[in-house]
Amino acid sequence: MNESASQLEWVPKASEIAREAGARLREFLAQGVETEYKGDVDLVTVADRTVEKLIRGRLGEVFPNHGIYGEEGTRERLEQEFRWYVDPLDGTTNFAHGLPHFCVSMGLERRKPNSGSGQDGEIVAGVIYNPMLDELFSAERGKGARLNGRPIHVSRVADLAESLVATGFPSRKRHDSPNVHFYHEFTLRSHGARRAGSAALDLAYVACGRYEAFWEFNLNPWDTAAGALLVDEAGGRMSDFAGGQFHLDSREVLASNGRIHEELVSMFRDMFAGRSLTPIPTPREFAERREAAAKANAKA
Ligand code: IPD
Ligand code: CA
Ligand code: CA
Repeated sequence: MNESASQLEWVPKASEIAREAGARLREFLAQGVETEYKGDVDLVTVADRTVEKLIRGRLGEVFPNHGIYGEEGTRERLEQEFRWYVDPLDGTTNFAHGLPHFCVSMGLERRKPNSGSGQDGEIVAGVIYNPMLDELFSAERGKGARLNGRPIHVSRVADLAESLVATGFPSRKRHDSPNVHFYHEFTLRSHGARRAGSAALDLAYVACGRYEAFWEFNLNPWDTAAGALLVDEAGGRMSDFAGGQFHLDSREVLASNGRIHEELVSMFRDMFAGRSLTPIPTPREFAERREAAAKANAKA
């Protein structure tokens, strides 16, 4: 494969930048930062904004012809063939509460020359850095995925019943999300469903085999760009909930180790058709049973 010098630099340079950004996040966490509200419970801190600015500056120095699309508002050179999707702090709610589970995520998209700024391309490189564990996940299209330089692969588990899965819930329009029903069903059908608060780390964890699957409604390209490539390159599968091709703007993310993917797609199909919600007691029914048990114990 014919590689340009600049292509060889994508992952090393982005890794350097992500490490620097992560170090800033660690400092902010240690010093404590005030939280503002972007929406209902959508939080933002000075750390999100400062670190996006840092990444924007560094990417601009190293790749002056690349575009940048950042969660905190950066929109630069979006008509370019290459564009970075940047989430300077994925897991802001955790961060704001002092919970050390968050990361920096940067994914590089390559688009066909002369396509309009609204037209998507394919993700060709990505890095996700968790500064609290010093874990740097990286991938380049066609070259596999790595964790701190070592190759990683998705897990070999073949059944949902033996899987650990993950999801997330939106901080906007929370009342419109049906996800708690899926959480309910996945919890009953698997080893457990985690809601750890960073979609980018969730995807990276599917890539390295810690989770068998991850799903979420309504994520943004800065949450998924790097992680989607990691999953692909680690041998997993990305799709929408119907098993169709995953797009950065598809608003439905279903990631898995590949082996359980069909089982997941058929579960989504059944649930969207109104089937398959395993009954559990309502709080009222539970309270009635509890009262009945207490009475029976008192008599005994
Ligand atoms: C959020 C996290 C969370 C997911 C939310 C995202 P942010 O990103 O990835 O896990 O459930 O949907 O918005 O706001 O912390 O960058
Ligand atoms: Ca995010
Ligand atoms: Ca963010």
